[in-house]
Amino acid sequence: MPDDAEITQHDGPRLPKRLLRVGATISVLAALTALGARAWVRHRSPSAERYAYEPSPAGELPQLWSLPGFSTVDHRGAELSRESLRGRPFIASFIFTQCTNVCPAMTSRLVQIQRRLAGQDLRFVSFSVDPAHDSSQVLAEYARSWNAEETRWSLVATDEQRLPELLAAFRVTAEPTADPDNPIVHSSVFFLVDAEGQVRGVYASEDRLAIDRLVEDAARLVGDELGGAAEPPAATIASLGCAGCHDHSRIAPPLLDLQGAQRTLADGSRTTIDDAYLRRALLEPGREIVEGYFPLMPSYRETLTDAELDALVQELGERSRGAAVAEPQPKIELVTDPVCHMRVRSDPSAPHISHEGHEVFFCSEMCKEQFLAAPERFPLEAQ
Ligand code: HEC
Repeated sequence: MPDDAEITQHDGPRLPKRLLRVGATISVLAALTALGARAWVRHRSPSAERYAYEPSPAGELPQLWSLPGFSTVDHRGAELSRESLRGRPFIASFIFTQCTNVCPAMTSRLVQIQRRLAGQDLRFVSFSVDPAHDSSQVLAEYARSWNAEETRWSLVATDEQRLPELLAAFRVTAEPTADPDNPIVHSSVFFLVDAEGQVRGVYASEDRLAIDRLVEDAARLVGDELGGAAEPPAATIASLGCAGCHDHSRIAPPLLDLQGAQRTLADGSRTTIDDAYLRRALLEPGREIVEGYFPLMPSYRETLTDAELDALVQELGERSRGAAVAEPQPKIELVTDPVCHMRVRSDPSAPHISHEGHEVFFCSEMCKEQFLAAPERFPLEAQ
């Protein structure tokens, strides 16, 4: 492959190749743009056009390129290098923990992939593209909120020197932007790497069929048939990583007090939440979008059995009843973060503090820390 060769996806959808010369990032952009996230288009990564999708000879995983050597440490403090990964295939991705759109969508799919590949002898490696913020501790917290039980998953803090090397090794880019909602634009693909450090596939994380192929290809690389592996853990709100999005009111509505609640949807219609609505939310999340949110919720159709779905709908319902009885939910409104002036929800699960008799809400822990360091610099009248 020439040096600046395009990343080629081996088994793309059967559409004319010309139509498929579209970046994985761009598809996410298109989905978000349709709902008004114009900032994404302004800051879209120029690397996106580099992805091309080409069908491969049936049954063969191509040898795309060999990863150069790299050496890092994961969120548990364990060495993670090309050498330490040798002998086991792995699925790699690039994320950052403060990202509120592409990364939660990607990570939620990674958690589903981990579940579908339960018990298989492979690893998952997520590299942070945000060295300034994502320390090993921050990444450990992130891993806990998404999939606390997953011992095969390593999250890697990077630094100003290692990050460009890792990006180059995977032939992708990550670029800072001036947009506080999307401070870093980076690639949204998954890479499948074999036990010898050869990249064997690149998969668009938002493409359901590509994810199905990734699961099959990964199982093939470890030499196991799907279904023969271990049982995944019980499907609960905790084990499925729902909190990764739903515990952050900027990303998704809190999963509390749902049953019987009224919802206004993005198309202006109103509906009352019942079991059927909850089931649709899990299977066809694009069909009804809660007003004020982006359509980031992944479908759990491929991940959950009917019995698991029933149990999850019941858990959602009980949570709401329990929460409704336990304590009335505070009124949630839009307020201004005094540090970055972003509009945020006054949701108790968002970063907030009590300061001189006021509840003060922030977009992130970073803004909260800045405020705590020098509250006099940030007048509160705007809240
Ligand atoms: C990648 C982020 C993400 C993940 C992971 C996620 N969701 Fe969501 N979910 C959303 C967003 C954003 C919305 C609101 C937009 C919409 O309606 O699609 C939503 C909406 C919902 C709703 C409708 C809520 C309402 O207030 O009307 C339910 C129910 C729900 N999700 C349940 C779940 C469950 C259960 C899980 C885990 C199995 C989960 N979600 C995982 C992002 C996510």
